[in-house]
Amino acid sequence: MKPKPVKKAVFPVAGLGTRFLPATKASPKEMLPVVDKPLIQYAAEEAVNAGIDELIFVTSNSKRAIPDHFDKNFQLETELEKKGKTDILKVVQNIVPANVTCVYIRQAEALGLGHAVLCAQRVVGNNPFAVILADDLINTNEKGVLEQMISVYDEHGCSILGVEEVPPAETDKYGIVDPEDTNGRISHVRQIVEKPAPEDARSNMAVVGRYILNPTIFNHLENIPSGAGGEIQLTDAIEQLLYDERVLAYRFEGKRYDCGSKLGYLQATVEYALMHPELREEFLEYLEMEFGQKLKEGKWAIND
Ligand code: UTP
Repeated sequence: MKPKPVKKAVFPVAGLGTRFLPATKASPKEMLPVVDKPLIQYAAEEAVNAGIDELIFVTSNSKRAIPDHFDKNFQLETELEKKGKTDILKVVQNIVPANVTCVYIRQAEALGLGHAVLCAQRVVGNNPFAVILADDLINTNEKGVLEQMISVYDEHGCSILGVEEVPPAETDKYGIVDPEDTNGRISHVRQIVEKPAPEDARSNMAVVGRYILNPTIFNHLENIPSGAGGEIQLTDAIEQLLYDERVLAYRFEGKRYDCGSKLGYLQATVEYALMHPELREEFLEYLEMEFGQKLKEGKWAIND
């Protein structure tokens, strides 16, 4: 039997973003722009391009900018129209296509990613759904990562975790899977452990911010106690799910930038600018002039 189609995506955006303070004190990290688009818009576009038509944002009281970003801005549109700025007007009007619904749910307290996903239970209902962490920005050549993962889901009908290989010394930053029966990009998940020390990790296959989950995950999210950091961990619920169901790890095609960290965010900004049709040439010229020789010679400093 064909599995139900994946039409809903949950965007947990209620975290505190402590790695990016003070920038994230009053505005959400998911609104940080990479060149000219906020992280959350890249994530929403990836979902819409994968055929998702309901975007469910789990927000908190300091994240009002997110609903505002996806809402109509009547005053701005009127002004742009008056000034004849039709190109940018179209961009502003088409942030999400008309057939896509946005739903906002409040997570009153930042009790963890698992708790944030649980907050979406009523809206998700008995349907498979995607979870996207917008701070993991993933650039792909053709199909976006969610589209790739939905194809895998359509074929196998079980929960799918987006994974990538990380340096073995960094396993303690991620949920790490123990993969078996690997066939190309797909493996069965035998076990999953949140942030294992490098010496304890069964592999260097890390779960990054893309999941397709069957709604049975909610039974586990409701029942698990708080785990690492006193938070309700999505990884712990997936670990429980493994006792009942098959879960697959999918090694996606694409390059990921951890935009929740300052370094990853800077790398994304530079590389997306170098891919941007309007900026590419001038920016490359600037980088070469300002930094090319100096970097080679190791002489770069602010007053050089
Ligand atoms: P992170 O682990 O990146 O935490 O959360 P964070 O608070 O956003 O950032 P740092 O580590 O303090 O800098 C992973 C994802 O889960 C969401 C976050 O918004 C992020 O997308 N999240 C986390 C919630 O929605 N609620 C929570 O209680 C915790």
